[in-house]
Amino acid sequence: MRFPRDFAWGVATASYQIEGAALEDGRGECIWHRFSHTPGTIADGSTGDVACDHYHRYRQDVALMADLGLNAYRFSISWPRVLPAGTGSVNPAGLDFYDRLVDELLAHGIQPFVTLYHWDLPQALQDRGGWENPDSVAWFADYAALMAGRLGDRVKHWITHNEPWVVSFIGNYLGIHAPGKRDLTAAYTVAHHVLLSHGAAVPLIRQAAPDAQVGITLYLCHVEPISDAEADRQAARRHDGYVNRWFLDAVFKGSYPQDMVTLVEPALQRIDPAAIRAAAVPLDFLGINYYTRILIAAAETAPFFAQEVRPAGLPYTAMGWEVYPEGLRALLVRVWREYGPRAIYITENGAAYDDPDVAEGIVEDPQRVRYYQLHLDACAAALAEGVPLRGYFAWSLIDNFEWAEGYRKRFGLVHVNYQTQARTLKRSALFYRDFISAQRAAG
Ligand code: FCB
Repeated sequence: MRFPRDFAWGVATASYQIEGAALEDGRGECIWHRFSHTPGTIADGSTGDVACDHYHRYRQDVALMADLGLNAYRFSISWPRVLPAGTGSVNPAGLDFYDRLVDELLAHGIQPFVTLYHWDLPQALQDRGGWENPDSVAWFADYAALMAGRLGDRVKHWITHNEPWVVSFIGNYLGIHAPGKRDLTAAYTVAHHVLLSHGAAVPLIRQAAPDAQVGITLYLCHVEPISDAEADRQAARRHDGYVNRWFLDAVFKGSYPQDMVTLVEPALQRIDPAAIRAAAVPLDFLGINYYTRILIAAAETAPFFAQEVRPAGLPYTAMGWEVYPEGLRALLVRVWREYGPRAIYITENGAAYDDPDVAEGIVEDPQRVRYYQLHLDACAAALAEGVPLRGYFAWSLIDNFEWAEGYRKRFGLVHVNYQTQARTLKRSALFYRDFISAQRAAG
């Protein structure tokens, strides 16, 4: 048997990507609503207004998960659905929706893993400076306490944030995600407050839900230099510092990596780096989202003097992300050795491909099947080396709104027809179902 008996086998989704019902039942506007309604931001000009209409079809989607034999589901709460202005008055209809969803999951033997922040900040808070405002730490802590108080009797796994690096840098430095800024100082300020809000929220979640497991999900990539040249190796080290170590060190050591502090010093003028010690609260688990290896070459461009290269001839997904399962094994072992998390969950892993149309009631997606097979093998290899891996969540259950890429990039195990909202299993869903059941039979 390659996976422990109590392993969490799940899928992951995020509120803005699947729920739709964007302004229904009192939900407040979120930054992705504002952003996607701004021309030129989303590749196919789409928005999350309807998405997969999961807000109305959640029962059907939970039934799909049950049919696949899953025992865990990672989803996120839409902050403005429960607190339309971000702080202050609560929207009962929003809370009721998540109550019903949690109950539906538990009735099917599926454990809810709740992510509190998967990028849909209330626009009302963005209007007050968003994560650049130091008050955002308290806004988030209050929201976390509210949700843990409401769902903590049934939800035993809590994730404060999804991918602080993406929130900070794709949203505020590269300008590709909401709120669409291009300002390095803003990005480091956002990262600091997001991390501090994590540190502030964890004890409040524990207070409201004493038997809960609490963690954070980081986007981590396996970084390698494109050559053995010293310059490339140093560039890869900097890229690793930028994306991985900045967040790992903050959460596990309560400090920022000194080499990176030196490098980006001017962008830290609005924060006190030493204050980050408050982000290092003891955690029950680390969530890792792994998709790819990043190959890095030395470059002339400040501040990181590093650039990503994608050599021809390697296998890439439709996102242009290299398929590199060995990176998952190596990353798991490295993070476990260097940071010592008590437990690890792969909270996202998956691939977009240009799938063929539905034919005879199924979508044939052999490349995605292969992607999952290889990455599950990598998980088994890491387990065999002693990594305390407790679960795996495929991204994603259903095709959905892939942020700046819109609906054209499909990550689902289940195909969505956006005209009819029909769900059709892909071959990868059957593969995952059979893989899980074979593991259970072996146990
Ligand atoms: C991750 C996000 C998730 C999804 C996948 C493809 O960065 O957390 O919402 O978009 O990428």
